Amino acid sequence: MEALFTAFAALPGLKVLSLVSLGLWGPLPQTIGNLSSLEMLNLSSNNLNGTIPVEMLGLRNLQTIVLDHNKFTGEVPFWISSFSGLTVLSLKNNSLNGLLPSSFSRLGNLRILQLSMNNFNGEVPDLSNLTNLQVLDLGNNSLGPKFPTLHNKLVTLVLKRNKFRFGMTHNLSSFYQLQKLDVSSNEFVEPFLPSLLSLPSIGYLSIAGNKFHGMLLKNMSCGADIKYVDLSFNYLTGDLPACLKLGNKSQIVHYRGNCLSNGRQRQHPYAFCHNEALAVRISPQRRKENEPSSKIVVAMSIVGATSLAGLMVLGVGFVFSKHAFKKPRTRVILEKAKVLYPSKLFLDAREICQMAKLGPLGLPAYRNFLLDEIKEATANFDVSNLIGEGSYGQVYKGILGNDNMVAIRCLKVRKRRGIQAYTHDVELLSKLRHIHLVSALGHCFEYNSEDSTVSTIYLVFEFVPNGTLRDFISGQKPIWSKRIAVAVEVAKGIQFLQTGMMPGLYSNNLKTTNVLLDHSLHVKLNSYNLPLLAENKNKVNMLSSSGSKEVSKPIVKQDDKSDVYDFGVILLEIIAGREITSDNDVSVMKDLFEVGIKADKIARKQILDPAVHKECPDNSVKTVMEVCVKSLSEDPNDRPSIEDVLWNLHFAAQVQDLGQGDSPSRKSSSPVFTSQ
Ligand SMILES: *[C@@H]1O[C@H](CO)[C@@H](O)[C@H](O)[C@H]1NC(C)=O
Ligand SMILES: *[C@@H]1O[C@H](CO)[C@@H](O)[C@H](O)[C@H]1NC(C)=O
Ligand SMILES: *[C@@H]1O[C@H](CO)[C@@H](O)[C@H](O)[C@H]1NC(C)=O
Ligand SMILES: *[C@@H]1O[C@H](CO)[C@@H](O)[C@H](O)[C@H]1NC(C)=O
Ligand SMILES: *[C@@H]1O[C@H](CO)[C@@H](O)[C@H](O)[C@H]1NC(C)=O
Ligand SMILES: *[C@@H]1O[C@H](CO)[C@@H](O)[C@H](O)[C@H]1NC(C)=O
Ligand SMILES: *[C@@H]1O[C@H](CO)[C@@H](O)[C@H](O)[C@H]1NC(C)=O
Ligand SMILES: *[C@@H]1O[C@H](CO)[C@@H](O)[C@H](O)[C@H]1NC(C)=O
Ligand SMILES: *[C@@H]1O[C@H](CO)[C@@H](O)[C@H](O)[C@H]1NC(C)=O
Repeated sequence: MEALFTAFAALPGLKVLSLVSLGLWGPLPQTIGNLSSLEMLNLSSNNLNGTIPVEMLGLRNLQTIVLDHNKFTGEVPFWISSFSGLTVLSLKNNSLNGLLPSSFSRLGNLRILQLSMNNFNGEVPDLSNLTNLQVLDLGNNSLGPKFPTLHNKLVTLVLKRNKFRFGMTHNLSSFYQLQKLDVSSNEFVEPFLPSLLSLPSIGYLSIAGNKFHGMLLKNMSCGADIKYVDLSFNYLTGDLPACLKLGNKSQIVHYRGNCLSNGRQRQHPYAFCHNEALAVRISPQRRKENEPSSKIVVAMSIVGATSLAGLMVLGVGFVFSKHAFKKPRTRVILEKAKVLYPSKLFLDAREICQMAKLGPLGLPAYRNFLLDEIKEATANFDVSNLIGEGSYGQVYKGILGNDNMVAIRCLKVRKRRGIQAYTHDVELLSKLRHIHLVSALGHCFEYNSEDSTVSTIYLVFEFVPNGTLRDFISGQKPIWSKRIAVAVEVAKGIQFLQTGMMPGLYSNNLKTTNVLLDHSLHVKLNSYNLPLLAENKNKVNMLSSSGSKEVSKPIVKQDDKSDVYDFGVILLEIIAGREITSDNDVSVMKDLFEVGIKADKIARKQILDPAVHKECPDNSVKTVMEVCVKSLSEDPNDRPSIEDVLWNLHFAAQVQDLGQGDSPSRKSSSPVFTSQ
């Protein structure tokens, strides 16, 4: 491991490291901390042992950590929360133990958290802040007894084989996206909540091997997608619901070992459940059994294969390092890695597909609209519904049959082409769904009557009611922390455009006039670089009719960095609290910020929007200014990546959270940009 990681440390641009099933053994070496560009680390199925080393703190770009099927020991370190961009953390099947750190609640980007098959114990920390969490697997540990506090956007929840006892009943009814729930083999002693059977998305439900009691009724309803239900070995009475008794081959239902009266599988007499349930309610302690200990016995299984695998690995290491010597300019390698191995992108794209299906944004599934629907929604394109106009079409506001407000873009098509020519664009369009994007709901084609080529394309988007970011900043004068939150949301929107689908959308030409705010004042990017629009040159501003001269970028362009420049301009406006409408404004403000960064904190504040002078912590201000100046660098290579921007803004927000960022504390030193 030492030799291997020393070789990798010579590749400062390394982003993806996947060393799976190679028979690697020993602890993770300290040099792992030198791989500072790493975004994805997958070391599954080796024989790595020891604790998770603190040097990993250096890997601040990490988004995915997979250490499954190893022999790591010790606790999950509290500093795990400093990986603010972390989306996947998977530590299945190790020998980790202790309490789960409460700092988990700060991993706001986490989507997948898998900690099953370890020796964790105690209560699960409050995870209700993890609004992006979709998969939580804590099976085969000793966690409990209180059911965890979670966000209701969860899709998969596995708590089987733990020591949970209570608290499940109140919470789960609102989990409208939950597809899989497995709480089997715990110690639950509470009434079974029949509404679990009818959760809208539920497909897999297992409560087997607990002490759930209560009466089921024949006429209870079930979710439409329910495929697997296991109610066995509880204290349920009454009748098995008819919707579980269809004898449907595609549905598997187990209910053995209860006291149900109308089933075929073996049941206890009614008195059994009644008495037990009573006993449970009156003195729960009496029923407590000694569960078999869930300690995992680690077997050494590594044999002759080791040396061979070891040789292979060293071979790989050698090739890598030779590369590094030949090409000391790491930029090349870095970019190659991005193109050839975009595994984090795949992961995201996959999840986004899934999310699109589920509609977690509260949006209906993407679909084809009928021309009649479009006409009805816009009152046959009545001028009173016209909200924007550009060089190749109009934007109308509309109301669909279900009272949903939408914005409809009409694109007049110049080239005569059949509908097939648009399949790719439409596919891409259907993926444009994100919480910080004005998301696409569907489309409609209108045809030329002579030759059935497409004459007009209508694109249906969600309607975003609360005006533009420019109006928000200059009108409502939001407080400092809200400004940072808004900036973070803009950056997240850009990050999604660039990495949320393949290929990403770059050069989105964003401005404060096409960043919109929804009803709860969260950001939604509008007018981004739509695939269909790329063919026609200019852009429509969906809601803005601002005629002001817009800022143009320096001519040197690098795709992914031109969005960062745009972001810099937006950030200028957010901080300064006034419109930035010309290139000259930008360079003046940028110079001012550069001076401000070096000045003392009183001078620094003078540059800000006077509305926030009182409340903003100096460290936060300084960090945001640095982000801004960096983003506006003339040379695209000097601009930070959007991930860097996000990381630094998160830092600025944290300083904010601490309240008095001015007081010296460990957190108050400014983070550094990697300059590549
Ligand atoms: C790793 O980084 C440390 C300091 O950050 C440095 O002293 C050390 O030489 C580096 N190791 C390698 C193998 O590059
Ligand atoms: C890590 O590697 C394993 C084995 O190849 C694979 O199944 C898993 O999907 C990988 N995880 C990620 C996040 O890529
Ligand atoms: C790690 O495993 C090796 C053998 O594979 C053993 O010699 C060493 O003591 C183990 N270290 C720890 C910390 O368990
Ligand atoms: C757990 O990991 C070990 C290797 O450490 C592996 O042999 C075993 O198959 C894994 N167990 C499961 C259930 O995946
Ligand atoms: C959740 O987030 C809010 C606001 O960011 C914060 O006040 C609260 O303390 C957090 N809760 C936990 C459990 O971290
Ligand atoms: C879960 O229940 C607790 C109280 O039992 C409540 O504080 C919490 O808000 C609930 N969470 C959800 C997501 O409903
Ligand atoms: C289900 O049946 C019970 C009696 O068996 C009745 O009280 C209840 O109203 C019924 N519920 C529905 C939704 O029909
Ligand atoms: C069987 O179940 C599936 C899914 O739960 C459902 O789509 C199908 O209509 C059912 N068939 C019958 C005959 O009930
Ligand atoms: C989980 O733990 C139980 C014992 O508590 C064991 O029988 C089972 O094989 C474990 N499952 C996995 C996947 O390790």
